[in-house]
Amino acid sequence: MKILGIESSCDDTACAVVEDGYNTLSSVVSSQEDVHAAFGGIVPEVACRKHIENILPVIEQSLEKAETLIDEIDAVAVTGRPGLIGALLIGVTAAKALSWSLDVPLIDVNHLNAHIYGAWMGEETPELPALSLVVSGGHTSLYVTEGPIQHELIGSTADDAAGEAFDKVASILKLGFPGGPAIEKAAAGGDPEAVKLPRTWINAPHFNFSFSGLKTAVLYHCLGQNASKEDIKTAEYEPGVVADVAASFQQAVIDVLVSKTCDAAEKNGAESIIVGGGVAANSLLRERLREEAENRGLQLMMAPRAFCMDNAAMIAGLGFHLLKAGRLADLKMEAEPS
Ligand code: KG4
Ligand code: ZN
Repeated sequence: MKILGIESSCDDTACAVVEDGYNTLSSVVSSQEDVHAAFGGIVPEVACRKHIENILPVIEQSLEKAETLIDEIDAVAVTGRPGLIGALLIGVTAAKALSWSLDVPLIDVNHLNAHIYGAWMGEETPELPALSLVVSGGHTSLYVTEGPIQHELIGSTADDAAGEAFDKVASILKLGFPGGPAIEKAAAGGDPEAVKLPRTWINAPHFNFSFSGLKTAVLYHCLGQNASKEDIKTAEYEPGVVADVAASFQQAVIDVLVSKTCDAAEKNGAESIIVGGGVAANSLLRERLREEAENRGLQLMMAPRAFCMDNAAMIAGLGFHLLKAGRLADLKMEAEPS
């Protein structure tokens, strides 16, 4: 069964064709990174306009790469939530039009569950129950996972998501957007012990996160407690300072993510840990999770790097399991921001 997946929840327009939930025949992502970089972050109205321009070419390319004719598609899966409402609407409208005109089922996919599903798209499948961490630009959430479509939320961030903190600290350090890869690169030459930064709730008895204090601590360290927006704009740093702050910040985020995820896995009797979302592309996070999961005897399932960032293969893949479970949407489907 061939499912066409569509993803437009944030700043990437993506389409993929996936067979039987696992076999990715094509995965096309049109990134808007360069467009938003000029603004230092994602501008929702700009994202919507770009999705409108990109959606049909991306669908066409995806079918072409999959060597699949449009009438060979058995169902259409689309991200319905969470995301930027205007951005989601473009993908949902395209998916409804395809489902109606091809007379095939429409499947409403949760973007965060799809990031977790990345773990099922490699060679090995996760041992269950699993503890899943979704760590992206909009979310830092922990779930107890009993299967591809069974997830119970046990913790999330009280303020900024981890990826958002990477993006904001990169902006303080003038490293550009998106911040995650830029911080990772700058941190490679820095000392992770150079700046003392908080690890909020690292040993708390709950599974929630908070990264806003860490971002503020970086700001105070770099520019003082009374720093204005103008000070951030005009700041100049020595390269060594940027490297040390980036390394110390990255280390602080990763300490919290690794420790809380592994503790949550043990406390919830998980057999494995699943990690997905854009921040899961970070090499140090991957390495530290590998070490810690091994120490605790837990299987670690991380989506391949290409599937950490937003893509539509994970949408089409998860769509297959929802379809099998009879969880179909119809033309009344609505995009939901949260
Ligand atoms: O999952 P994703 O592509 O989009 C959302 O659903 O948010 O994640 C994007 C986020 C951005 O905040 C970006 O800075 C972060 O993932 N990110 C990283 C890395 N690559 C991307 N964060 C840390 N290290 C990276 N290498
Ligand atoms: Zn995402």
